[in-house]
Amino acid sequence: MTRIISIVNQKGGTGKTTSTVNIADYLARTGHKTLIVDMEPQSNATLYLGIDPLSLELSVSEALLKKEIGLDEVILSTNTENLHIAPAKVSLANTDLNLADKPDKQYRLKEKLSRVKSRYEYILIDCPPSLSLLPVNALVASEEVIIPLQPKYLSLEGLKQLKVSLEKTREELNPSLKILGILFTMVDMRLKMTKYCIDIVRDYFGDKVFKSTIRVCSKLNETPVAGQSIFVYSPSSKGAKDYKSVAEEIIERGNLFYRKSLFRLLCPQLEDKTFLNAS
Ligand SMILES: Nc1ncnc2c1ncn2[C@@H]1O[C@H](COP(=O)(O)OP(=O)(O)O)[C@@H](O)[C@H]1O
Ligand SMILES: [Mg+2]
Repeated sequence: MTRIISIVNQKGGTGKTTSTVNIADYLARTGHKTLIVDMEPQSNATLYLGIDPLSLELSVSEALLKKEIGLDEVILSTNTENLHIAPAKVSLANTDLNLADKPDKQYRLKEKLSRVKSRYEYILIDCPPSLSLLPVNALVASEEVIIPLQPKYLSLEGLKQLKVSLEKTREELNPSLKILGILFTMVDMRLKMTKYCIDIVRDYFGDKVFKSTIRVCSKLNETPVAGQSIFVYSPSSKGAKDYKSVAEEIIERGNLFYRKSLFRLLCPQLEDKTFLNAS
């Protein structure tokens, strides 16, 4: 079974790309076949993995726009075993406009992924900081969403708006979409606002908030320049510990979803609650 997860937040600088790359790298290092789809015109995830977007002939953009180009022609392997990337280049910036009048404009990524997804256990889609057609394509292609969030007051307003657009996408385009988890990033517990924000979001979203949080870590800031994940650049850093912990939680939450679905299939007459009590 393939889990397709979008990493989304319409705000820039919340840790989407850092989370996508490091979680994917951890999953691959622990033996899971993993694909990153870079849906961001600035190509940060592509650069992060040491690939120069200017050297690319084909990217996600061409696969989205041209019927005859499949993602298998676009996907590249990386320095990490089991980790592949469908890279982005700057042409992705015009893709929204070029898709705008196409009747299947929201379904292009889903359709292209359907032909390669069986090769992977995890597909992580790094979204741009907007709610335009690119992230909509990502949300339509995914079943799960991770929302990286900085514990700041203004982030809470953004989270409300994001929740509304996720609900709209679920109602209109993809009924299977669910929030896998809200991930607090760049956490500095010395700041009063940090605990305040985390408590508010936990009160409202309950266990939809990951138990693990990502602390501020200067090494994480340096990894894109090095073109390496935190597990290579600084394996004993706070950043490596925190991303290991959240990736383990993602694996475990997936196992729980799977056990729940299997239980529903086998015992449809029993309440979901019974399963939870029994587990
Ligand atoms: N936990 C962290 N500690 C310190 N810096 C971080 C951390 N997470 C991300 N950063 C830095 O913050 C900036 C924004 O992160 P990024 O992942 O690019 O956000 P987004 O993809 O949401 O725009 C980058 O410079 C990145 O290196
Ligand atoms: Mg980014």
